[in-house]
Amino acid sequence: MIKRIITAAALILSTLAASAFAQDPIVIKFSHVVAENTPKGQMANKFRDLVHERLGDRVKVEVYPNSQLYGDNKVLEAMLLGDVQMGALSLSKFKRYTKKLQVFDLPFLLEDLDAVYRFENSDTGKNLLRSMERRGILGLGYLHSGMKQFSANKPLRVPEDAAGLKFRIMSSDVLASQMHALNATPLKKPFSEVFTLLQTKAIDGQENSWSNIYSKKFYETQEYITQTDHGIINYMIVTSDEFWKGLPADLRGELQKAIDESIDFGNAVAKEKATSDRVAVEQSGRSKVLDLTPEERKQWVEAMRPVWKEFERDIGKDVIEAALKSNG
Ligand code: LMR
Repeated sequence: MIKRIITAAALILSTLAASAFAQDPIVIKFSHVVAENTPKGQMANKFRDLVHERLGDRVKVEVYPNSQLYGDNKVLEAMLLGDVQMGALSLSKFKRYTKKLQVFDLPFLLEDLDAVYRFENSDTGKNLLRSMERRGILGLGYLHSGMKQFSANKPLRVPEDAAGLKFRIMSSDVLASQMHALNATPLKKPFSEVFTLLQTKAIDGQENSWSNIYSKKFYETQEYITQTDHGIINYMIVTSDEFWKGLPADLRGELQKAIDESIDFGNAVAKEKATSDRVAVEQSGRSKVLDLTPEERKQWVEAMRPVWKEFERDIGKDVIEAALKSNG
C-alpha cells in the first residue's frame, strides 16, 4: 500500500515538474482574405505545415483564410496591437504606412510576373520590404497572385467601353486615378464584399487576378472578362517589427527559411493558375473571355499611362525607373 502511494506521489511530482518546464509554443496567427486554393491560401498553409514539421513544439501557425479573422483594412492595426502576427496583404493596401509601394499599382508598368519577380529581387525591391519599419511593420517577402484582368457586364475592348461604369477597386489612390482615367467610377470596397456587390449589380465590374476571379466565383456574376494584364495583384508577407525582433534568433532564421520556401511554392501556384483558372472560367460557360488585339491594347496603355506622372513624387522617380528596368 505504502509503495503504491509513493509511486503515485512520484508520478504526480514528475508530471508537475514536466509541465513546469514545458513551454507553450509561440502562436503565429496568419490572417488573410482569399480562398485556400489560391496562391496565397496555399502559401500560408505550406508555411503552417513546414513550421509544424520543423518547429512543432516551439511554434504553432494558425491560418485564418477568407477574412475569417480580419479584413485587410483592420489587419495591420491588429498586428501592431499583437492580436495577429502575420498577414499577406495586397500591395495596394499599405498606403497609410508608406506611399512607395504604390509603384506596384501603376498600370502597365511591370509587364508580366517574371518582371515582377525581378523587381522584387532588385535592391530597390528588397529595400521596399523595410519601407514601413518606422511604422512598426516589417516585410518578410513578396508573393504573386497574378496579373489583373477587368470583368464587367458588357464587353470591354477599348477604354471607352469602361466609361460611366462603376468598378470596385482596392483601397488605393493609384487605382482610383486609373479608373478616373477611363472615365469610370471607382469604389473602394473590401474584398469580402465584392461578390455581393457584383451579384446585386451595385457595381458593374471589378479588376482582379484569375485565381481570385475563379475562387470567389466573380465570373458567375459577370458576363465578360477581358485579359488586359494591366496591372498585378501582388502581396507582401508582413509581421510586426516588435514581434519579429522579440523572437529568439534561431527561430527567426528558421521561420524566414520556411517563409522563403512557401513563397517559392505559392509563386509556382500563381504561375500555374494564371492559365488554369482562366481555362476553368472559360469552361464554366458562365462568362465570355475576351482577348485584346495589339491595337486595342495600345489604347488601354495610352489611356492609363498618364497616372504614372501623377504619383511620381510620392513613389519616387528612382523607384519607378528601377521597376521599368525589370521588364524583359
Ligand atoms: C482584392 O482585395 O481584390 C485582393 O487584393 C484580395 C487578395 O488579397 O488577393
